[in-house]
Amino acid sequence: MVSGLAAGGVARIEENQMTNDEFRRYGHQVVDWMADYLENIRDYPVLPAMEPGDLVDRLPAEAPERGESMDTILEDFEQSIVPALTHWNHPRFLAYFAISGSPPGILGEMLTAALNVNGMLWKSCPALTELEQVTLSWLRQWMGLAQEFFGIIYDTASISSMHAIAAAREMADPEVRTRGNSGRLVMYTSEHAHSSIEKGAITLGIGQDNVRKIPVDESFRMRADVLRERMEADLRAGLKPFCVVATVGTTSTSSIDPVPAIADVAEEYGAWLHVDAAYGGAAAVVPELRGILDGVERAHSLVVNPHKWLFTPIDLSVFYTSRPDILRRAFSLVPEYLKTSEDSRAVNYMDYGVQLGRRFRALKLWFVMRNLGHEGICKIIRSHIAYAQKLANLIRSHPDFEVAAPTPFSLICFRYRGSDDDNRALLERINVSGKAFLSHTVLNGRFVIRLAIGNVATEWQDLEEVWELVKQTAGSGVVKE
Ligand SMILES: Cc1ncc(COP(=O)(O)O)c(C=O)c1O
Repeated sequence: MVSGLAAGGVARIEENQMTNDEFRRYGHQVVDWMADYLENIRDYPVLPAMEPGDLVDRLPAEAPERGESMDTILEDFEQSIVPALTHWNHPRFLAYFAISGSPPGILGEMLTAALNVNGMLWKSCPALTELEQVTLSWLRQWMGLAQEFFGIIYDTASISSMHAIAAAREMADPEVRTRGNSGRLVMYTSEHAHSSIEKGAITLGIGQDNVRKIPVDESFRMRADVLRERMEADLRAGLKPFCVVATVGTTSTSSIDPVPAIADVAEEYGAWLHVDAAYGGAAAVVPELRGILDGVERAHSLVVNPHKWLFTPIDLSVFYTSRPDILRRAFSLVPEYLKTSEDSRAVNYMDYGVQLGRRFRALKLWFVMRNLGHEGICKIIRSHIAYAQKLANLIRSHPDFEVAAPTPFSLICFRYRGSDDDNRALLERINVSGKAFLSHTVLNGRFVIRLAIGNVATEWQDLEEVWELVKQTAGSGVVKE
């Protein structure tokens, strides 16, 4: 008899598994580690001091044959994994859109892993489906969006926007679903739109040549007059303008496209209007900032990422559409084994997108919204915006620096008054210091440093320290005078 098999010849699979007592013990240990980590986050360098491939070289090339103890695994986590981390939780992580989770969000994420439910159908997990409906209804109200907007959670804004383009295509040409693309569909977005919009067009077979990049004005906002000209020209050329994507909070500068004027044009040509508010949309939860979403009531869809600026651990992207019927038409395809009895209150989220299986993401959003509350979230966002205005003023008033774009939210684009190489060297030097992490963009052909505030733990003192670091580095001969 093969050893390790029980009397009936069936392996006892629980033999090698963690006991419940061990699970409890290591669970406490891991939570303690997380609490210490968050408490001492400023002690870590924001960027790891390592070369590409260092971690790969350090870890065994093959997986273990026999199970290893959790003590060994956790020790390796501390020794090998942690030193190779970029600390997105660090209050001086100011690159990209500086995003962070929050303690209630982390606890929600842990429970999601423990429950391990799959919300493909209402029936496959009613709590997942209905909590998604409830949290997205709450968020819709906080953002001042109309009740008609149906919400669904996807993983990222890239995927949310791809679903918007697919719904737009369904509205313009329902035959595409069965026959494939006609090659006549063209879409429009600003030259400052996120690359995910073009990627969505690539994925859906619209083609990069059929994505028109509309120029921006001096404040990096899409020009609605040029949009109209391009749509008219395409129409006259026998093409079909089917989708316009506006951005509220562009990636490079956080500029806000003029959505009402863009909506006028989109309506004139019968195109779907999608608004990418992945980062900026979060600010609309602050009542006095709701105006940033003016015109969105006329959009067919909108994306906002709680994993960007609503303190929810990545990933969680919220997609709202006023035309869920069209989204459903684009995606619903139900094999026999997933058929359930129709009930108008039972939403089967698998009908509204590509994926079948879905994580219980709403749980962490529910924890964050309840624990921080509307008031708490508004307070943090207001602080981030106030810090950004204050820092932008300091930069503006310094003779060696200039602010390179308006600062409508909490992102500052600035430059040292020197060459592009000087600015590149300055950024590089700051980032290798481990004290802060900033990123860059190019505006009007010039290299610009981006400093984004969005971390739940960032204090004004962190920003003062970074500003001192920037000035000292620039003045220390790192950049040419
Ligand atoms: C305006 C905008 N849209 C979309 C995205 C893509 O977000 P995600 O990583 O969720 O796909 C970004 C990323 O920063 C963004 O700035």
